[in-house]
Amino acid sequence: MTSWNELFNDEKNIKRFPETEIYKFVTTLEQLFSERPLRLWDICCGAGRHTVAMASFGHKIYASDNAPNAITLTRKYLSERGLQAELMLSDMTICPWPEASFHGVISWDALHHNTLGNIQRAIDEIHKHLIPGGFFMGTFKSSKSDSYGRGKEIESDTFISYDGKEKGIMHHHFNEVGIRNLFQNWEVIALAEMVIKYIERGSNFMEMNPFPYTKWDILVRRK
Ligand SMILES: C[S@@+](CC[C@H](N)C(=O)[O-])C[C@H]1O[C@@H](n2cnc3c(N)ncnc32)[C@H](O)[C@@H]1O
Repeated sequence: MTSWNELFNDEKNIKRFPETEIYKFVTTLEQLFSERPLRLWDICCGAGRHTVAMASFGHKIYASDNAPNAITLTRKYLSERGLQAELMLSDMTICPWPEASFHGVISWDALHHNTLGNIQRAIDEIHKHLIPGGFFMGTFKSSKSDSYGRGKEIESDTFISYDGKEKGIMHHHFNEVGIRNLFQNWEVIALAEMVIKYIERGSNFMEMNPFPYTKWDILVRRK
């Protein structure tokens, strides 16, 4: 099975540009919390584009991923920018800083890379490590995504992809009930299904398509 660690050996799988939502998230937290620096965790940080973006605000950033190459790439990217963050190799189900409490946690396009049970464990771990009133923002694959069903189903709605950029990688897909179940104990601020409807799919679509697939965007607060 291909792993993200292997995918990071190929430059084409390394994203450098942060999503604009990250800036909105950090500036909102700056308005809501007076404590400085804010403590922010990028869980499943990948090559570090959001770790670097958040560190540029001057806050205390923590970043974790279970791929050694991700941690190496993030460390290099931070150093190139003259920035710092706490980095740890760690599975998504564990916060590698047992005493830490965060104002905000983000995870972009990552927590769906697991079985449903482990994704719930990761969300519960994030909840445990947020201060009361702290926020989580993340994205998750939708069951309406083009990748749905394209692979070996290892449990309901969880597939090991057999094609595309993430061939060999596990993805769980959520419908609305599923995504709501994941965040039962949270206050939901925004839940959106970002529907992308492809009108035409040419040859090598799954390999070459640069656009996103239908996914869930969610912003939630620890009560
Ligand atoms: C699509 S990449 C997204 C990376 C980053 N969040 C971004 O937006 O650039 C998915 C990331 O999830 C990480 N990942 C997958 N399964 C994981 C697990 N069980 N524990 C920790 N990280 C995991 C991968 O190593 C990879 O860095």
